[in-house]
Amino acid sequence: MTIHVKNNISWVGQRDWEVRDFHGTEFKTEKGTSYNSYLIQEEKTVLIDTVDHKFCYEFIQQLELEIDLNKIDYIVINHAEEDHAGALAALLNKIPNTPIYCTENAIDSIVGHHHQPDWNFNVVKTGDSLDLGNGKQLVFIETPMLHWPDSMMTYMTGDAVLFSNDAFGQHYCDERLFNDEVDTKELMDQCLRYYANILTPFSALVTAKIKEVLSLNVPVDMIATAHGVVWRDNPIQIIEQYLTWADKYQEDRITIFYDSMSNNTRMMADAIAQGIHEVDSQVAVKVFNVARHDKNEILSNAFISKGVLVGSSTMNNVMMPKVAGMLEEITGLRFKNKKAAAFGSYGWNGGAIDRIESRLEDAGFERFESLKTKWRPDGKAILECREYGRMIAREWALTSAPATDVSAPAANQAVLEQAVPEQEPQAVEVVKPMQDGAVVQFSPDTSMLCTVCQWVYDPAQGEPNQDVAPGTAWSEVPDYFLCPECGLGKDVFEEIKTKKAVA
Ligand code: FEO
Repeated sequence: MTIHVKNNISWVGQRDWEVRDFHGTEFKTEKGTSYNSYLIQEEKTVLIDTVDHKFCYEFIQQLELEIDLNKIDYIVINHAEEDHAGALAALLNKIPNTPIYCTENAIDSIVGHHHQPDWNFNVVKTGDSLDLGNGKQLVFIETPMLHWPDSMMTYMTGDAVLFSNDAFGQHYCDERLFNDEVDTKELMDQCLRYYANILTPFSALVTAKIKEVLSLNVPVDMIATAHGVVWRDNPIQIIEQYLTWADKYQEDRITIFYDSMSNNTRMMADAIAQGIHEVDSQVAVKVFNVARHDKNEILSNAFISKGVLVGSSTMNNVMMPKVAGMLEEITGLRFKNKKAAAFGSYGWNGGAIDRIESRLEDAGFERFESLKTKWRPDGKAILECREYGRMIAREWALTSAPATDVSAPAANQAVLEQAVPEQEPQAVEVVKPMQDGAVVQFSPDTSMLCTVCQWVYDPAQGEPNQDVAPGTAWSEVPDYFLCPECGLGKDVFEEIKTKKAVA
């Protein structure tokens, strides 16, 4: 089946109503997904991406009903993961030697999966273009780590369509293709789930890359994603929403998650939630048992919360394994701007709480005092839990604006203009004007962390491979500097700060 997208662009992808797992079993696709492939028929005929390998034969069968495959001049692969490039082998079996345009990293991955190093690969970089005839071009924009090192987007001039691949997409299946045709709440819930569970670690890069795309100052009439809907109505809304989420996002919400051997820690969670509500009836308090609730929903709630309370019974003097797993995943997601505390019931030793505290600090939370209860909470202990909840509500009360409804992102140009995360000043020893006119000051001993791959720039060491001498402060590192691990620019680095004291 094909769907007309715009002028000479058609959707030639595949619906997958029944898929329930992505990335092993780590991402639950509760609404299915789609694999969006696009066929452009100008003077040149181009296929943008393919579909998941498990649908390769249906994909080619459908494509052959639409076009003589031999008329395809070029194949563009924006991302090499198998849900996009999976049908390449079957396709090239029909049309060998068709040129494939992709990033250098994509070749590594495609060859690694398909074992065909002799395919007709053509490496593209940001700014490279491919002429389609009829006065239109495809322009390539590398987007490494959004969300893989090989990722890129492709912009079509004339029609002003941005083929964004995974970015701005959702695991959401509907026979209707365009955002103005589907349920907005359902759609935005899936956008949030995708961002919170996959893109959060790369938030600094999201901001930098969106600013780079916007700086091209080209119109964007549609955003054609690789999963879910095509953004036809006000496509800028999802760009604005990404900028908002990327900027240390939080709502007036507290997420409590726990696991409980004998219901004692669950009783504590309920009482703490009640205490919070007694003091602050406006804050949304959401309570989850990690053993029973959908993990991705818990993580989505944690992402939009101002604070997280983590509870566990003590078992063998450690926390319960499912809580440990959640904390490990949260550490990897690198949430910003959030408070946290631990609680739990114990019998002989309360080792779980100590370990949760340590993990919360490792994960970058501002940690508050914990609460332990011995055995099953009696009436007095329940009152202590409620009082603890009241204390949390008072300490974590928002003084800023009320929560934002993610189902209705504001169409506000100001969001775009305020996209650069604020830098906090340090002791003044080096002062250098930044590109946007702001002045950021760095001490010569300030180390910087690549927020994408965690490589650390140590001024004492410099980076000799890029002619940055030992003793060079971050402010003096040239703007063309690239992270030696992941190849990204200075925009994705953040100052390493010492941990805050526990209240
Ligand atoms: Fe849709 Fe990164 O795969």
